Amino acid sequence: MARILITSAIPYINGIKHLGNLVGSQMPADLYARYMRQRGHEVLFLCATDEHGTPAELAAAKAGEPVADYCARMWAVQKELSDGFRLSFDKFGRSSSPQNRKLTQHFAGKLDEAGLIDEVAEKQVYSVADGRFLPDRYIEGTCPNCGYDKARGDQCENCTKQLDPTDLINPRSAISGSTDLEVRETKHLYLKQKGMRGKLSDWIESKTDWPVLTTSIAKKWLNDGDGLQDRGITRDLDWGVPVQKGDQPWPGMEGKVFYVWFDAPIEYIACAGEWADEQGLPAEAWERWWRVDHGADDVRYVQFMGKDNVPFHTLSFPATIMGANTIPGEDWKLVDYIKSFNYLNYEGGQFSTSQGRGVFMDQALSILPADYWRWWLLSHAPETSDTEFTWENFQASVNKDLADVLGNFVSRVTKFCRSKFGEEVPAGGSFGEAEEKLIADLTTRIRAYERFMEAIEIRKAAAELRAIWVLGNEYLQANAPWTVFKTDPERAAAMVRLSLNLVRLYAVLSKPFIPDAAAELMTAMGTENGDWPEDVAAALDVLPAGHAFTVPEVTFRKITDDERDAWKAQFSGVRK
Ligand code: 2FM
Ligand code: ZN
Repeated sequence: MARILITSAIPYINGIKHLGNLVGSQMPADLYARYMRQRGHEVLFLCATDEHGTPAELAAAKAGEPVADYCARMWAVQKELSDGFRLSFDKFGRSSSPQNRKLTQHFAGKLDEAGLIDEVAEKQVYSVADGRFLPDRYIEGTCPNCGYDKARGDQCENCTKQLDPTDLINPRSAISGSTDLEVRETKHLYLKQKGMRGKLSDWIESKTDWPVLTTSIAKKWLNDGDGLQDRGITRDLDWGVPVQKGDQPWPGMEGKVFYVWFDAPIEYIACAGEWADEQGLPAEAWERWWRVDHGADDVRYVQFMGKDNVPFHTLSFPATIMGANTIPGEDWKLVDYIKSFNYLNYEGGQFSTSQGRGVFMDQALSILPADYWRWWLLSHAPETSDTEFTWENFQASVNKDLADVLGNFVSRVTKFCRSKFGEEVPAGGSFGEAEEKLIADLTTRIRAYERFMEAIEIRKAAAELRAIWVLGNEYLQANAPWTVFKTDPERAAAMVRLSLNLVRLYAVLSKPFIPDAAAELMTAMGTENGDWPEDVAAALDVLPAGHAFTVPEVTFRKITDDERDAWKAQFSGVRK
């Protein structure tokens, strides 16, 4: 038994996530966590909301709520939706937690002690009316290049020219519209990453088993001319973790907060603290996952994220950990494996939160149960390239894989048994060559399924699982117990006994992908035996003759063409 720490990239608090966000980190992380638990490993699976930064402040202002209230409300919304999708986090925390505040300040203090923090004076635009400094993209004005009057301080959306806020003609605050802007001097902390380039590069080079998507992005940022720059880790905002050195004030940094990307990954650690505190466990309970000097070198730590998050997780966060670890007594765990994903597109374009384009988590659950989405998303995970969601494709997968293959097998076997032998596993008859071949084929495929799940090759694992379901149908088709029953009911009984056991086996194997259906099948089979099939022949002998079962209601229903067209129309516009 191993210990496996799993984190999913933590979603921003502002707004409900779309299916592209979901398949890019939380859903595959859940698949892996569920599988590893089923295999008997000790798993700690963590996620949280990413609550700081300007977008959270602005979303709260738009909603007319104090930002803390807004975050508390949206956390509850996101929590309910992740429960709805059956994401099995041990803790869904909050980056605004007291645990994260303390730990973020702790890391900043240690980095400073290590000589890795610079204080830099900068000039920045200040809005007198708003009483705050404005980030570049919250300054609007007329583009000097094309005359577009809503150009942002970082870029003109119309002609794509990169801009400095001072380039804009008639600049104004995007928050209030005020033109009362001045350039003021302000001081910020920088993490001296540049000097850590060699150490980071050696570390990445040693990760020869990582997905190419992960290492290629990391190497690009390390090796491209201005890739690894020292990084500003503070902001002039009200909402965030106040800048302190541990529990001491930081002279000259009063009223400032840490940059959201500094405190967000530290929440991975703090979230373990939230988990322990919630259960009334001592600090040791979370430290054994995160501190090497408390035994965490035995832990395998796996992170899941979309490709846009890779630079922060391969460079900035490791720089924070490595930097802090140069101080005696600091011994934090680095990630062992980073699984990253490409993008999921939607019907010929991109999913977009800002444009409200695509299907969002709440909408998805309002039309179909979680398992339908889980199956499609996971079996189409954008691992090697971007992939596209289309309603046709979704309908085809649900109808073929779930209804025609798995659902149909379950329904044929259970209904046939009920009509000929009643609702209990039939006795009598013996197994022959057909069963031996089936067991051999199942064994080969189940071992392959295990290898893909362990390697987090999600599409290949899904294809293998589907092939395992197909084997059951092929067995029934080739051996036709309904025909055999007429001449040799004992032999038919043996086939049905094996097939009912196969339903239980399918429930066990399919649980990481479709947990609700798996639970229904277990209930229908009247068993709680969820043992993993180390030995397939033995696994097909778990339900003995005479064991009672029930015929499950429709396990998966089909999506009609009318529904498909209606949903396509319903989700073609812009979410308000
Ligand atoms: O891209 C995002 O959704 C970010 N909120 C991810 C943060 S992951 C981490 F570092 F915590
Ligand atoms: Zn322009």
